[in-house]
Amino acid sequence: MIYYFSGTGNSLYVARHLADILGERLSPMASSLSLRGELDRVIGLVFPVYAWGIPNVVEKFVSNSSLQNSAQVDYIYAVMTCGDDMGYADRVLESALGRKLDAAFSVLMPDVYVCLPGFDVDSKEECKEKLAQEKIIVKEIAAHVSERKEVRQLKRGPFPWTKSYIIRPLFNRYLLTDKYFNVDAAKCISCGRCRKSCPVGNIVLDDVPKWQSHCTGCLACYHACPYHAINFGKMTQMKGQYNLLRTINE
Ligand SMILES: Cc1cc2nc3c(=O)[nH]c(=O)nc-3n(C[C@H](O)[C@H](O)[C@H](O)COP(=O)(O)O)c2cc1C
Repeated sequence: MIYYFSGTGNSLYVARHLADILGERLSPMASSLSLRGELDRVIGLVFPVYAWGIPNVVEKFVSNSSLQNSAQVDYIYAVMTCGDDMGYADRVLESALGRKLDAAFSVLMPDVYVCLPGFDVDSKEECKEKLAQEKIIVKEIAAHVSERKEVRQLKRGPFPWTKSYIIRPLFNRYLLTDKYFNVDAAKCISCGRCRKSCPVGNIVLDDVPKWQSHCTGCLACYHACPYHAINFGKMTQMKGQYNLLRTINE
């Protein structure tokens, strides 16, 4: 079984590729929020890297699951999608999981983080290049998993410890919040795409979207808005939006 979380589609895309090659089933983490009872012998976890760590949905899912000392599970691996580098996200996952991973991989995918100065979506060319590489890398990952290899293929980037253990807690404390989302009422047509896109059901549509304070920070709502009516503070007004389907089809 492959458990996945995806805000803007990248990790779902990777999880589907992997599941197709391995003949595995997929299950969304966001809907079950824990993993108990009868477990498969091989478990895959596929999700995005957030602030050189893991999304809070993933943290809840793995820490509520009875994987720590389950003798039922022979092999557990993680595939983490990221725009640039993942720091020690695998170690952050292992702390939440309460056990070592047998294998861990990062896959570079189009960057969706736009809320700080200097961060924006990738160009169309960069997206295409990453999606082309993804095909090759996922095949390699599937081969390792089939052979139950103990392996780590990770792009940690520079200063991984500082990023994962100093910057990430600050990010989570000050920027992992929906209180800075705002809507340009003149642009919003109440189409509801933001609400539908939210993987954790954090948006109600009351003429315009209203966030319910249990945001996981994925930015699906921002990227899904066809009119760029949603912004995170003022920082995203001039930033791009990412749509995986459009990138693939164009
Ligand atoms: C809140 C947030 C934090 C992120 N932090 C990182 C990061 O630390 N390193 C990185 O390379 N990419 C980072 N990204 C980019 C995503 O990991 C990347 O685009 C991922 O493929 C998105 O997956 P998804 O489409 O399945 O949600 C971040 C994205 C978000 C929304």
